[in-house]
Amino acid sequence: MLNVMGRVLNLAGEPVRNAKVEVWQANTYGRYTHPSDPNPAPLDPNFEGAAVLTTDSEGRYRFKTIKPAAYPVGPDRMRPAHIHFQVSGRQDKIVTQMYFESDPYNEIDPFLNSSRGRKELLVRKLLDPSPDFESNSKMVIFDMVLYKGSLFAAAPGVIESDFGPRANRDVKPTQPADWRWGSCTRGDRSA
Ligand SMILES: [Fe+2]
Repeated sequence: MLNVMGRVLNLAGEPVRNAKVEVWQANTYGRYTHPSDPNPAPLDPNFEGAAVLTTDSEGRYRFKTIKPAAYPVGPDRMRPAHIHFQVSGRQDKIVTQMYFESDPYNEIDPFLNSSRGRKELLVRKLLDPSPDFESNSKMVIFDMVLYKGSLFAAAPGVIESDFGPRANRDVKPTQPADWRWGSCTRGDRSA
């Protein structure tokens, strides 16, 4: 079990409230639920792997998931384990990916290594959980910055929501609007 959390901030370091945070990821075998995923690795019927969250009054988001696995993107290339994020404020949005420390594929991943010396911002450490999480879980903190982040985004929404092996079956998470399988495997670096 993995608890992912962080804040959405603007360039002044102020929290962006009610920002929309869309997340999507592969399962523990490296397989996306998207029908166009060519990876023959097994699907997990209890794991959708996508959710839409809204930051709270302090710009925070949080979700519970499982650590994704690396997956193949060709006969001789692997992508390291990662979670996709798209964050939308009232004026602008960012699309990024969070990676995990010590993943053996981090050093050869062209997307991660296109970050020009700022890899440390994208590669996160698996931390021991804080007391309010399951003792056998892990925790990752990942903050994101919107260039024009507004203190007051337009639409109110839920403070936070979880998706995970069981909860997602009831919640029916919304697929990110621009989910495009292949966006990270066919050379489009925007996602
Ligand atoms: Fe991906």
